[in-house]
Amino acid sequence: MKNVLVTGGAGFIGSNFVHHMLKNHDYNIINIDSLTYAGNLDNLKDVENDSRYTFLKVDIRDREAITEIFEKYDIDTVVNFAAESHVDRSITDPEIFLTTNVIGTQTLLDVAKKFWKVNPDDKYSTEYKEGVKYLQVSTDEVYGALGKTGMFMETTPLSPNSPYSASKASADMVVRAYHETFGMPVNITRCSNNYGPYQFPEKLIPLMINNCKSGKQLPVYGDGMQIRDWLHVSDHCNAIDTVLHKGVIGEIYNIGGNNEKANIEIVKLIIKTLGKDESLIKYVKDRPGHDRRYAIDNTKITTQLGWAPKYTFEQGIAETIQWYLENEEWMDKITSGDYMKYYDNMYKKA
Ligand code: NAD
Ligand code: TYD
Repeated sequence: MKNVLVTGGAGFIGSNFVHHMLKNHDYNIINIDSLTYAGNLDNLKDVENDSRYTFLKVDIRDREAITEIFEKYDIDTVVNFAAESHVDRSITDPEIFLTTNVIGTQTLLDVAKKFWKVNPDDKYSTEYKEGVKYLQVSTDEVYGALGKTGMFMETTPLSPNSPYSASKASADMVVRAYHETFGMPVNITRCSNNYGPYQFPEKLIPLMINNCKSGKQLPVYGDGMQIRDWLHVSDHCNAIDTVLHKGVIGEIYNIGGNNEKANIEIVKLIIKTLGKDESLIKYVKDRPGHDRRYAIDNTKITTQLGWAPKYTFEQGIAETIQWYLENEEWMDKITSGDYMKYYDNMYKKA
């Protein structure tokens, strides 16, 4: 039985991944999360009494706490989701992105190295215990922006444009260095934009569903023609599971579902599904440094590891809209209090 440390498991993708792992494997899952504004234990209510699941409120930058966890739970696998994840917030307040996303990653790697090396005191030894692995959950945003054509491959040079993507690219570089220098058994996954249940409503799809439902304006940045490559979160979780079990040590895997959509298309689809009027759309000032287009070439993971997405975008978005409509209480709890302060501040000049 594996002992898997999932970090950031109270967030959007992390909580979906905890559900996925408990459903598909008989592993112990130790979820650590510092519960920032984005961490929500309501996402995990249905598993909190599962004897294979433990939650601990811990910051990934807290070396002492991480060390205790490795000791107590005999951790053999780390899947690092914990991060500051919102581009707009990284424009307002970049520093926390660097400390959490970069220093937090390095802290996890460092503690894992200490526990997993066969001879931890020999700095030249690259021998690790059998079956250990560190998986860094990264993003396609590290590659920067594409023009009208082309796709991101694992070999595409990193060219991040926002403080968020710069911090994720930096973390990837640290993970790479721990592999090259210390021989750490690592993988990096770089996924496109996710959608699905439990996503914090500062991100495009849940924000638009929530606003549309209550007849509020739908703030579309710039001309709305920016393109993202959308993947259902459960396909992302499946891909991470695949890389965890089959990924070749030291390799990077791009994850994407070949679902390129312009933002405005998605907004109009949500309006149509909810039976509202396009007059709700409000074109607002563009995000500074806004990446125009992302597209993932997923050839490596599909041909080498046999992963493929199960959801079509049409099915995934229909289910997702339905989920947010059926989970009003979940949304209402988040969108009271601090969220409104964020929202008013973010969109007041729009
Ligand atoms: P999220 O913001 O919903 O969740 C992040 C979680 O990390 C939250 O629960 C938060 O409380 C926790 N956290 C933040 N700082 C922490 C710290 N210092 N210590 C411990 N926990 C901390 O983000 P998400 O959308 O679920 O993204 C998860 C990961 O996947 C991130 O690393 C992100 O870069 C990556 N990713 C996201 C997407 C996407 O479309 N959302 C796409 C590709 C990759
Ligand atoms: P977002 O969900 O923040 O993800 P990312 O910036 O990581 O791709 O945004 C997705 C796209 O939607 C992006 O091009 C910005 C755009 N967007 C809007 O047009 N209006 C909004 O209110 C938000 C939050 C995003």
